[in-house]
Amino acid sequence: MSGGLFITFEGGEGVGKSTQVRRLATRLEATGREVVVTREPGGSPGAEAIRNLVLNGSADRWSPVTETLLMYASRRDHIERTLQPALQRGAVVICDRYADSTRAYQGAAGGTDPGLISALEHFILEDVRPALTLVFDLDPELGLARALGRPDAEARFESKGLDFHRRLRAGFLAIASAEPDRCRIVDASGDPDAVEARVLAAAGPVLGLGADLGGVGT
Ligand code: TYD
Repeated sequence: MSGGLFITFEGGEGVGKSTQVRRLATRLEATGREVVVTREPGGSPGAEAIRNLVLNGSADRWSPVTETLLMYASRRDHIERTLQPALQRGAVVICDRYADSTRAYQGAAGGTDPGLISALEHFILEDVRPALTLVFDLDPELGLARALGRPDAEARFESKGLDFHRRLRAGFLAIASAEPDRCRIVDASGDPDAVEARVLAAAGPVLGLGADLGGVGT
Protein backbone atom coordinates (compact mmCIF):
# COMPACT_ATOMS: atom_id res chain seq x y z
CA MET A 1 0.00 0.00 0.00
CA SER A 2 3.06 2.31 0.44
CA GLY A 3 4.03 5.26 2.68
CA GLY A 4 0.62 6.77 3.44
CA LEU A 5 -1.55 6.30 6.48
CA PHE A 6 -5.11 5.02 6.19
CA ILE A 7 -7.59 5.83 8.99
CA THR A 8 -11.29 4.93 9.01
CA PHE A 9 -14.20 6.27 11.08
CA GLU A 10 -17.05 3.85 11.74
CA GLY A 11 -20.27 3.62 13.73
CA GLY A 12 -24.06 3.66 13.51
CA GLU A 13 -26.38 6.46 12.41
CA GLY A 14 -26.08 9.94 13.88
CA VAL A 15 -22.90 9.29 15.89
CA GLY A 16 -21.28 12.53 14.68
CA LYS A 17 -18.43 11.00 12.63
CA SER A 18 -18.47 13.57 9.85
CA THR A 19 -17.86 16.49 12.23
CA GLN A 20 -14.97 14.63 13.82
CA VAL A 21 -13.46 13.69 10.43
CA ARG A 22 -13.31 17.39 9.53
CA ARG A 23 -11.82 18.38 12.88
CA LEU A 24 -9.12 15.73 12.77
CA ALA A 25 -8.29 16.62 9.14
CA THR A 26 -7.83 20.28 10.12
CA ARG A 27 -5.43 19.34 12.90
CA LEU A 28 -3.43 17.07 10.64
CA GLU A 29 -3.26 19.64 7.83
CA ALA A 30 -1.80 22.10 10.34
CA THR A 31 1.17 19.76 10.77
CA GLY A 32 1.95 20.17 7.05
CA ARG A 33 0.87 16.72 5.92
CA GLU A 34 -1.25 16.06 2.84
CA VAL A 35 -4.65 14.94 4.13
CA VAL A 36 -7.30 13.36 1.91
CA VAL A 37 -10.82 13.22 3.36
CA THR A 38 -13.17 10.80 1.66
CA ARG A 39 -16.24 8.69 2.36
CA GLU A 40 -18.07 5.48 1.54
CA PRO A 41 -20.14 4.58 -0.23
CA GLY A 42 -18.62 7.13 -2.62
CA GLY A 43 -15.32 8.95 -2.84
CA SER A 44 -14.85 8.66 -6.63
CA PRO A 45 -17.28 9.55 -9.45
CA GLY A 46 -18.27 5.95 -10.16
CA ALA A 47 -18.63 5.12 -6.48
CA GLU A 48 -20.79 8.22 -5.93
CA ALA A 49 -23.10 7.03 -8.73
CA ILE A 50 -23.49 3.69 -6.92
CA ARG A 51 -24.08 5.59 -3.66
CA ASN A 52 -27.15 7.23 -5.20
CA LEU A 53 -28.53 3.81 -6.11
CA VAL A 54 -27.92 2.19 -2.76
CA LEU A 55 -28.89 4.94 -0.29
CA ASN A 56 -32.15 6.11 -1.82
CA GLY A 57 -35.52 4.42 -2.14
CA SER A 58 -37.50 2.14 0.13
CA ALA A 59 -35.85 0.20 2.98
CA ASP A 60 -36.35 -3.11 1.12
CA ARG A 61 -35.26 -1.87 -2.31
CA TRP A 62 -32.13 -4.09 -2.19
CA SER A 63 -31.57 -7.32 -0.31
CA PRO A 64 -28.60 -7.42 2.09
CA VAL A 65 -26.61 -9.59 -0.36
CA THR A 66 -27.27 -7.20 -3.25
CA GLU A 67 -26.31 -4.28 -1.00
CA THR A 68 -23.09 -6.08 -0.13
CA LEU A 69 -22.20 -6.42 -3.80
CA LEU A 70 -23.08 -2.80 -4.55
CA MET A 71 -20.99 -1.61 -1.60
CA TYR A 72 -18.06 -3.68 -2.84
CA ALA A 73 -18.45 -2.46 -6.44
CA SER A 74 -18.37 1.08 -5.14
CA ARG A 75 -15.48 0.29 -2.78
CA ARG A 76 -13.34 -1.19 -5.55
CA ASP A 77 -13.73 1.92 -7.70
CA HIS A 78 -12.92 4.11 -4.70
CA ILE A 79 -9.80 2.04 -3.97
CA GLU A 80 -8.55 2.16 -7.56
CA ARG A 81 -9.30 5.82 -8.28
CA THR A 82 -8.84 7.57 -4.92
CA LEU A 83 -7.38 5.50 -2.07
CA GLN A 84 -4.45 3.75 -3.75
CA PRO A 85 -3.19 6.89 -5.54
CA ALA A 86 -3.41 8.97 -2.34
CA LEU A 87 -1.68 6.35 -0.20
CA GLN A 88 1.03 5.90 -2.82
CA ARG A 89 1.69 9.67 -2.67
CA GLY A 90 2.19 9.29 1.07
CA ALA A 91 -0.99 11.11 2.14
CA VAL A 92 -2.92 10.62 5.34
CA VAL A 93 -6.33 9.36 4.20
CA ILE A 94 -9.32 9.69 6.51
CA CYS A 95 -12.32 7.74 5.26
CA ASP A 96 -15.83 8.18 6.70
CA ARG A 97 -16.92 4.48 6.71
CA TYR A 98 -15.19 1.55 5.00
CA ALA A 99 -15.24 -2.26 5.08
CA ASP A 100 -16.39 -2.51 8.72
CA SER A 101 -19.66 -0.82 7.72
CA THR A 102 -20.38 -3.71 5.35
CA ARG A 103 -19.59 -6.23 8.10
CA ALA A 104 -21.91 -4.41 10.51
CA TYR A 105 -24.78 -3.16 8.27
CA GLN A 106 -25.04 -5.95 5.69
CA GLY A 107 -23.51 -8.66 7.90
CA ALA A 108 -24.32 -8.36 11.61
CA ALA A 109 -27.53 -6.34 11.16
CA GLY A 110 -28.60 -7.48 7.67
CA GLY A 111 -27.76 -11.18 7.90
CA THR A 112 -25.39 -11.54 4.92
CA ASP A 113 -23.16 -14.60 5.27
CA PRO A 114 -19.87 -13.52 6.86
CA GLY A 115 -18.07 -15.93 4.50
CA LEU A 116 -19.18 -13.87 1.49
CA ILE A 117 -18.00 -10.66 3.16
CA SER A 118 -14.62 -12.18 4.09
CA ALA A 119 -14.12 -13.40 0.52
CA LEU A 120 -14.89 -9.94 -0.86
CA GLU A 121 -12.48 -8.37 1.65
CA HIS A 122 -9.79 -10.79 0.53
CA PHE A 123 -10.18 -10.24 -3.22
CA ILE A 124 -11.30 -6.60 -3.36
CA LEU A 125 -9.45 -4.78 -0.58
CA GLU A 126 -6.12 -6.50 -1.18
CA ASP A 127 -3.76 -4.52 1.08
CA VAL A 128 -5.84 -1.33 1.32
CA ARG A 129 -6.71 -1.85 4.96
CA PRO A 130 -6.82 0.77 7.70
CA ALA A 131 -3.99 1.08 10.20
CA LEU A 132 -6.42 2.68 12.65
CA THR A 133 -10.21 2.54 12.93
CA LEU A 134 -12.22 4.69 15.32
CA VAL A 135 -15.55 3.06 16.17
CA PHE A 136 -18.00 5.73 17.37
CA ASP A 137 -20.40 4.21 19.84
CA LEU A 138 -23.77 5.68 20.84
CA ASP A 139 -27.14 4.41 22.05
CA PRO A 140 -29.04 3.84 18.77
CA GLU A 141 -32.13 5.65 20.05
CA LEU A 142 -30.06 8.81 20.47
CA GLY A 143 -28.25 8.31 17.17
CA LEU A 144 -31.43 7.77 15.16
CA ALA A 145 -33.05 10.84 16.70
CA ARG A 146 -30.01 12.91 15.68
CA ALA A 147 -29.81 11.40 12.17
CA LEU A 148 -33.50 11.79 11.38
CA GLY A 149 -33.31 15.46 12.37
CA ARG A 150 -30.83 16.17 9.54
CA PRO A 151 -32.37 17.97 6.56
CA ASP A 152 -30.25 16.10 3.96
CA ALA A 153 -30.90 12.60 5.27
CA GLU A 154 -30.49 9.81 2.69
CA ALA A 155 -32.83 7.76 4.76
CA ARG A 156 -32.85 4.14 3.51
CA PHE A 157 -30.83 2.75 6.40
CA GLU A 158 -32.21 5.16 8.98
CA SER A 159 -35.71 3.81 8.21
CA LYS A 160 -34.83 0.20 9.08
CA GLY A 161 -36.05 0.27 12.69
CA LEU A 162 -34.55 0.07 16.15
CA ASP A 163 -33.86 -3.68 16.21
CA PHE A 164 -31.70 -3.35 13.10
CA HIS A 165 -29.77 -0.51 14.74
CA ARG A 166 -29.26 -2.48 17.96
CA ARG A 167 -27.77 -5.38 15.96
CA LEU A 168 -25.64 -2.84 14.14
CA ARG A 169 -24.20 -1.43 17.35
CA ALA A 170 -23.44 -4.94 18.63
CA GLY A 171 -21.79 -5.71 15.27
CA PHE A 172 -19.45 -2.72 15.48
CA LEU A 173 -18.54 -3.47 19.11
CA ALA A 174 -17.77 -7.10 18.16
CA ILE A 175 -15.43 -5.94 15.37
CA ALA A 176 -13.64 -3.61 17.79
CA SER A 177 -13.15 -6.30 20.40
CA ALA A 178 -11.97 -8.85 17.81
CA GLU A 179 -9.32 -6.44 16.44
CA PRO A 180 -8.09 -4.36 19.38
CA ASP A 181 -4.78 -3.45 17.71
CA ARG A 182 -6.54 -1.71 14.84
CA CYS A 183 -9.75 -0.44 16.48
CA ARG A 184 -10.47 2.08 19.24
CA ILE A 185 -13.98 2.60 20.59
CA VAL A 186 -14.89 6.28 20.99
CA ASP A 187 -17.81 7.20 23.25
CA ALA A 188 -19.88 9.45 20.93
CA SER A 189 -22.15 10.89 23.62
CA GLY A 190 -21.89 14.52 24.67
CA ASP A 191 -20.96 17.62 22.71
CA PRO A 192 -18.53 17.70 19.75
CA ASP A 193 -15.67 19.15 21.85
CA ALA A 194 -15.92 16.32 24.36
CA VAL A 195 -15.98 13.74 21.56
CA GLU A 196 -13.00 15.41 19.86
CA ALA A 197 -10.98 15.12 23.08
CA ARG A 198 -11.71 11.37 23.06
CA VAL A 199 -10.73 11.13 19.38
CA LEU A 200 -7.39 12.79 20.11
CA ALA A 201 -6.76 10.58 23.11
CA ALA A 202 -7.43 7.52 20.92
CA ALA A 203 -5.75 8.58 17.67
CA GLY A 204 -3.17 11.13 18.78
CA PRO A 205 -0.41 8.66 19.63
CA VAL A 206 -0.74 6.88 16.24
CA LEU A 207 -0.78 10.21 14.39
CA GLY A 208 1.91 11.96 16.33
CA LEU A 209 -0.59 14.52 17.65
CA GLY A 210 -0.63 15.55 21.30
CA ALA A 211 -3.87 14.77 23.10
CA ASP A 212 -4.04 18.32 24.51
CA LEU A 213 -6.74 20.59 23.14
CA GLY A 214 -4.56 23.62 22.62
CA GLY A 215 -4.20 23.29 18.85
CA VAL A 216 -6.18 24.22 15.77
CA GLY A 217 -9.89 24.85 16.04
CA THR A 218 -10.10 25.40 19.77
P1 TYD B 1 -24.32 8.57 5.21
O1 TYD B 1 -25.41 9.57 4.93
O2 TYD B 1 -22.94 8.88 4.81
O3 TYD B 1 -24.45 8.12 6.72
P2 TYD B 1 -23.60 8.49 7.96
O4 TYD B 1 -23.61 9.99 8.05
O5 TYD B 1 -24.34 7.79 9.07
O6 TYD B 1 -22.24 7.91 7.69
O7 TYD B 1 -24.79 7.22 4.52
C1 TYD B 1 -24.05 6.10 4.49
C2 TYD B 1 -25.00 4.95 4.72
O8 TYD B 1 -24.54 3.79 4.06
C3 TYD B 1 -25.14 4.61 6.18
O9 TYD B 1 -26.52 4.41 6.48
C4 TYD B 1 -24.42 3.29 6.29
C5 TYD B 1 -24.53 2.69 4.93
N1 TYD B 1 -23.42 1.77 4.55
C6 TYD B 1 -23.65 0.41 4.52
O10 TYD B 1 -24.76 -0.04 4.80
N2 TYD B 1 -22.63 -0.43 4.16
C7 TYD B 1 -21.40 0.03 3.82
O11 TYD B 1 -20.48 -0.76 3.50
C8 TYD B 1 -21.16 1.44 3.87
C9 TYD B 1 -19.82 2.01 3.53
C10 TYD B 1 -22.21 2.30 4.25
